[in-house]
Amino acid sequence: MERIQKIIANSGYCSRRKAEDLIKAGRVTVNGEIVQELGRKASYGDTIMIDGKALKKEEKEYILLYKPRGVVTTSSDDKHRKTVIDLVDTPNRVYSVGRLDYDASGVLLLTNDGELTNLLIHPSNNIEKVYLVKIDEAVDPHALKKLEDGVIIDGKKTAKARVKVKKIDKKKNKSLIYLTIHEGRNHQVKKMFEAIGYKVSKLKREKFAGLDLHSLKSGEWRRLSVHEVKVLYALAKKN
Ligand code: URA
Repeated sequence: MERIQKIIANSGYCSRRKAEDLIKAGRVTVNGEIVQELGRKASYGDTIMIDGKALKKEEKEYILLYKPRGVVTTSSDDKHRKTVIDLVDTPNRVYSVGRLDYDASGVLLLTNDGELTNLLIHPSNNIEKVYLVKIDEAVDPHALKKLEDGVIIDGKKTAKARVKVKKIDKKKNKSLIYLTIHEGRNHQVKKMFEAIGYKVSKLKREKFAGLDLHSLKSGEWRRLSVHEVKVLYALAKKN
């Protein structure tokens, strides 16, 4: 279930703000009933009409982008920086499933499928994310163990995680660590490393919900296959 103005905006008909105006003006019906409260919810299966015309369901798009560093994960940026939406070519109003920091790179899913987005970002969903983390120090493997058990960030312990060392180079003072998590808290990976005394110098998401960067270069993107979308739905609905 989703707020009606969000369903209308997700269909690409107009912005959420404009949809709210249409609702307040009594121009929107859900299954034949005029709805004028902004808090009301509907499901994607309900028939929503605006001025008596059924809301057209925009064709669903699923794009996997290899987000480069130095690009923001929003559709518009007040500092006029390049956004992830600028990198893809689609007539549809897609948005990102979750976020990657401006200075982070890697797998980012873009879609106009609000239902799938909600399923994938819901905290109970346990979607797996694998990050490759670079630290400009030779990290202590014992400290890494703490990440697996959970560390306190923003006053709350992180869930169990998996750590795999790719490289710890004592001579060059550099480490590359894989961290697998199932949550999506704000700046989670950077904060987890900060909690054990290390600053992340580079961050790349290698995998999201089983999707990886295979065959893509930084800045490139591709559409998901029908099969990949089915697998994502199955994964998202499992929990
Ligand atoms: N964790 C972070 O700290 N940043 C990201 O972009 C993603 C996960």
